[in-house]
Amino acid sequence: MASSPHSSSHLYFLLVFFLLQAAATAFPVASEFELGIQKRIHFRVYFHETFIGPDNTTVTVVNMSLPYTFGDIEIFDTVLRAGPDESSTYLGRVQGAGFRVSKQEEVLLLPLVLVFTAGEFVNSTLTAIGRLDASGNSERAIVGGTGVFQYAWGKLVTETLSYSVVKLVVAYDVYVVYYNDLRLSAIA
Ligand SMILES: *[C@@H]1O[C@H](CO)[C@@H](O)[C@H](O)[C@H]1NC(C)=O
Ligand SMILES: *[C@@H]1O[C@H](CO)[C@@H](O)[C@H](O)[C@H]1NC(C)=O
Ligand SMILES: *[C@@H]1O[C@H](CO)[C@@H](O)[C@H](O)[C@H]1NC(C)=O
Repeated sequence: MASSPHSSSHLYFLLVFFLLQAAATAFPVASEFELGIQKRIHFRVYFHETFIGPDNTTVTVVNMSLPYTFGDIEIFDTVLRAGPDESSTYLGRVQGAGFRVSKQEEVLLLPLVLVFTAGEFVNSTLTAIGRLDASGNSERAIVGGTGVFQYAWGKLVTETLSYSVVKLVVAYDVYVVYYNDLRLSAIA
């Protein structure tokens, strides 16, 4: 009787109960907080990467010289602008890394942060992670944010606009859900 599944599951629940109580004592819930008003917005910004010249934005830190650049790593600190032209309004940086992760084709795994230092979203960031294959276009997950973009999630859709040995310009369509009561106007 004492070893029936019924009574041992009782014992199990008692144990879990005491463990949870111990945890609750160690980490008491101090207070709840408001999330703010949920906003869902789409905006387009432009990623400007420079490969050559004194203002280059990207360095290759690992070069394995393997097929499909497998194993290579690059670090970038690129410019984020409101438009595709080099003279368009400066909004901040896109800082991250590219990990070459495929042995079958050229694929980058990209953790990156959009760092807004000017414009509507000044002092805010969005963190995205995702993949870029040889097609040049991609969809990545927005996994969080700070400042205006607290508790953000969403997606980042990229479209390559121009590419040369010197420069790469990519349109970033940002679809983001976040919690803030900031009043927004056009950012461009
Ligand atoms: C990148 O910029 C640095 C610093 O200005 C410079 O030393 C380096 O030669 C540049 N690299 C290229 C490939 O232009
Ligand atoms: C990696 O090294 C190879 C061989 O030296 C060179 O041809 C290639 O351009 C390098 N790649 C990068 C991204 O620097
Ligand atoms: C952004 O941060 C800077 C430096 O901390 C501060 O001076 C500025 O007031 C902030 N701007 C906004 C809109 O919060």
